Amino acid sequence: MSNKEHFGSKIGAVAALAGSAIGLGNIWKFPYLTGENGGAAFILIYIACICFIGIPIMLAEFSIGRRGGKDVYGTFKTLAPKTKWCAFSIITVCTSAIILSYYGTIAGWTMHYMCISFTDAFQNATPASVEQLFNDFTSNPYHPLIWQMLFMVVTAAVILGGVKNGIERSSKVMMPILFIILIILCFRSLTINEHSIEGLIFLFKPNLDVVSAKTFLAAMGQAFFSLSVGMGVIMTYGAYVKKHENIHQMSYQVVISDTAVAILAGVAILPATFAFGMAPNAGPGLVFLTLPQVFAQMPLGQFWSFIFFLLLVLAALTSSISLLEVTVAYLINELKMKRATATILTTVVITIIGVFTTLAFGPLKHITLFGMNLFDIMDYTASNILLPLGGMLICYFAGWVLGKESLRDEITNGNKLKITLFGFYFFIMRYVAPVVILLLMLNGMGVFNN
Ligand code: PHE
Repeated sequence: MSNKEHFGSKIGAVAALAGSAIGLGNIWKFPYLTGENGGAAFILIYIACICFIGIPIMLAEFSIGRRGGKDVYGTFKTLAPKTKWCAFSIITVCTSAIILSYYGTIAGWTMHYMCISFTDAFQNATPASVEQLFNDFTSNPYHPLIWQMLFMVVTAAVILGGVKNGIERSSKVMMPILFIILIILCFRSLTINEHSIEGLIFLFKPNLDVVSAKTFLAAMGQAFFSLSVGMGVIMTYGAYVKKHENIHQMSYQVVISDTAVAILAGVAILPATFAFGMAPNAGPGLVFLTLPQVFAQMPLGQFWSFIFFLLLVLAALTSSISLLEVTVAYLINELKMKRATATILTTVVITIIGVFTTLAFGPLKHITLFGMNLFDIMDYTASNILLPLGGMLICYFAGWVLGKESLRDEITNGNKLKITLFGFYFFIMRYVAPVVILLLMLNGMGVFNN
């Protein structure tokens, strides 16, 4: 028996899927990766990764999910009975739990920054003062924990509402607001002063000198993370999409909106950064250390700061709910738990893991492995090992286990739709993606370092 719950409308399904894809990865990570990796050249490579690997994987995961029609475990049990494929669902559940635990840390920070926007926290900000503010907050043993927990409670509240009334309804409200805020911020950023344009040039004029193997790998890893592929999220949501919907078209809509938001986030952030003479390569601190200084120099800076961090909170929330739903769906379907019990249990466990990642910037700072703190270890394990592993297995499953005909049947709704590039996608799923991802993963583990 497949899922009883479904998305009520196509637009709601696309909003939920795009909501999962669009997140901190687009607005926090993409602009700083672009800044660190030489601007436009990185964007071009990123778009190539999206087109040649991202779309086929999205389509593979989406098709598997809808065909199986259940949580990740149930889907593999249905599509590949009496094999070990169900064990793969354990990896996806762990990956989503790990990502959500540290996602909650950063999301908690953004909630805090949103709330302090209206205080005088950023007034007369200098590089030293914002750094002090950031360090004091993130290393405090209580404050970031309270924000992380608050964020997890809000995430759980949405999931408690179920697929239609929780995930779909909230995404349909939050996604349009997110787009509107982003467009307004782009206009603001571009019209600050004559130096804004330098940010645009940086974003759109490729400087190929800075491209190295590292750039390709950074772009590919980011494409995976940003599209939410490789950990069962798209599979779980795919199971909630009705059989008559066109999943090929929906995949495109999700991928295009995700990429558009990443680029628009660059337009909202980098011209403002250039306008006030700041460097674009501040790394992960770009949003928390550089932007508060930008807002401090802008008329109505408190308002713009609030709007910007609100944007981040909304983006984080539509992604975190999808991460939570992977495990919740598993517990509901496989262990026959009630949604409420499953949600509370999962939230408590993930929040407890998240306590360690949050405290990794304060009291637990000294716990390190290979020079990484607990937060970095989680991020590293998820992004460099588990995510690519998941993506590789999904492509392998689509290409070799599910097979061409079943896949075609699912994507074309039983030959009712015509999909021109199907042969190309299938070739990538079967041969190209598993190999490319394996290389990415080995590199992520440092195998090629010397
Ligand atoms: N895609 C989300 C982002 O860009 C992160 C995410 C990853 C969400 C994996 C769900 C699953 O921030």
